Amino acid sequence: MSNAQIAKSLAVAGPVLGIETSCDETGVAVFDTARGLLAHTLYSQIRMHADYGGVVPELASRDHVRKLLPLIRETLSRAGLAPRDLAGVAYTAGPGLIGALLVGAACARSLAWALEVPAIGVHHMEGHLLAPLLEADPPQPPFVALLVSGGHSMLVEVAGIGRYRLLGDTLDDAAGEAFDKTAKLMGLPYPGGPALAKLAESGTPGRFRFARPMTDRPGLDLSFSGLKTQVLMTYQQHAAEANAKADIARAFEEAIVETLLIKCRRALEAAGAARLIIAGGVGANRRLRAALAEAAAKEGFRVHFPRLEFCTDNGAMIALAGALRLAAGQGDDNAIRVAPRWDLETLPPVEASDAGR
Ligand code: KG4
Ligand code: ZN
Repeated sequence: MSNAQIAKSLAVAGPVLGIETSCDETGVAVFDTARGLLAHTLYSQIRMHADYGGVVPELASRDHVRKLLPLIRETLSRAGLAPRDLAGVAYTAGPGLIGALLVGAACARSLAWALEVPAIGVHHMEGHLLAPLLEADPPQPPFVALLVSGGHSMLVEVAGIGRYRLLGDTLDDAAGEAFDKTAKLMGLPYPGGPALAKLAESGTPGRFRFARPMTDRPGLDLSFSGLKTQVLMTYQQHAAEANAKADIARAFEEAIVETLLIKCRRALEAAGAARLIIAGGVGANRRLRAALAEAAAKEGFRVHFPRLEFCTDNGAMIALAGALRLAAGQGDDNAIRVAPRWDLETLPPVEASDAGR
């Protein structure tokens, strides 16, 4: 048998359970390449970590242990399925917090072993990257992806599923991290991104202006830590003035949004692409979505976003990414293996015909 024939004989058809436990959300979903998303559930640990001002890894792992099995039961029941109906299991194998990842990996591998179905470890950022495919009118590669989450900010050229080339990366803080740290220094609650965005809504545009980092020179890398320092200095100087906090939040958000827009334009040009997708938690930012949609309409490119709940961490994106890879015969061995750091460019490609799409 040729490699392609072997892959086809191992190919999974049917519902695939997806499990996400890389950080502070427990996400579970069932995706079927023929029938689409059948069910998804999410439990967010945000309230527990808020008391500490950030994610406490050990508490995160323990809470995944508590919540994962009940969520799997609920998701299967919403999908009208019994465990034996599953054709495969996908789980986030990295990047992420090692203890949190191990909870999902151990559970997924054990379940797959007991059900005698294949399992696959999914790259968390590939999950984010493919999340727009869960929507109507899914984007077909080639496209450029702006991935902006709490742990990563990157621009990726996507030639096909699993065919990723990194165009730009962050040199320091990720976009979500910049939102979170800036919010924290202004005394806003964790997680800072949504809190800062909400405060910015009542801010006056134009009262403050921050730099658009690394846009004055060519290149696609990002850097947000200097912006955070600029905000800190402005905040210390003006904190007592009326509406200063909201006006600073507004200027900070505008700086991030415009910087990302400039870099997206450049990335589209560098890749010769006319299609952009945005994913990851910061992709839920309304001002970013509006600015990119407006630029797309004016400048003649297309932009795709996941729905808001699939921008932040969720099980649906993991079930989808895993189902596509399992459909291409890519399940791996039974070892419970996780990768807290994992380079997206090392993933094996999935050819369109392999995945039956
Ligand atoms: O993708 P995600 O859920 O988790 C990681 O993989 O990191 O991203 C979480 C990040 C956090 O930094 C959070 O503050 C940010 O996304 N975020 C936002 C918004 N919603 C979530 N940042 C700006 N505006 C938002 N509306
Ligand atoms: Zn994420």
